[in-house]
Amino acid sequence: MPFYTYLFAYYTVIDKYQLFGSLVSVNFSMEIVFYIHILAATAWIGGALLLFALGIFLRDKQAQANVYEHLGPLYGYFETFWLVTLLSTGTIMFIHHGFGAVFENAYDSDLAQTMIRKLFLVAILTFLTIIHMIIAFKTHTKTRSTWQQIISRGSSLLIFFLNLIILWYATQIRTML
Ligand code: HEM
Repeated sequence: MPFYTYLFAYYTVIDKYQLFGSLVSVNFSMEIVFYIHILAATAWIGGALLLFALGIFLRDKQAQANVYEHLGPLYGYFETFWLVTLLSTGTIMFIHHGFGAVFENAYDSDLAQTMIRKLFLVAILTFLTIIHMIIAFKTHTKTRSTWQQIISRGSSLLIFFLNLIILWYATQIRTML
């Protein structure tokens, strides 16, 4: 059998496709879910890094205002889509890997503790993202108050660093599984 046939069999899109009388049971491969999780992580973090860099390196205030005016709403929807994708694919893998049982039986293990840290930071990140987006959409093309400015800039700075730490925990979890 040619090599690619084995490859296809291994990296198959559908893990099991079984027909039991009229019952059709389809189990989508966790590899696809994992792939989407990684794709979402690259899009989510990549988008955040780019906008963060724009904020720092695009010094011309007018150019910056123009970029945010046109890119802002699109960026907001783009990031929301990928964050929701991350949360949902992450939850599917969490269940698939039996993390509930890991928490019950091995709460002190490195795996459980690292996952708890990752989820804790993801929860903060999601909260900050919601706050950041509420301010962004509310004040789009308008002048911001000092507080709105502080909270908006502070949250985006925190989101930036949280992403880097979450990524670190994610790689640790993968090694432990
Ligand atoms: C901002 C949110 C998130 C980011 C940036 C993120 C990022 C990542 C990355 C990059 C990996 C792959 C690590 C590697 O291959 O070395 C990963 C794996 C994983 N993530 Fe996430 N993740 C996020 C949210 C979540 C959530 C909310 C959950 C669970 C509810 C979750 C559960 C998992 C699991 C179980 C794996 C390991 C999958 C496997 O190895 O098969 N993630 N994550």
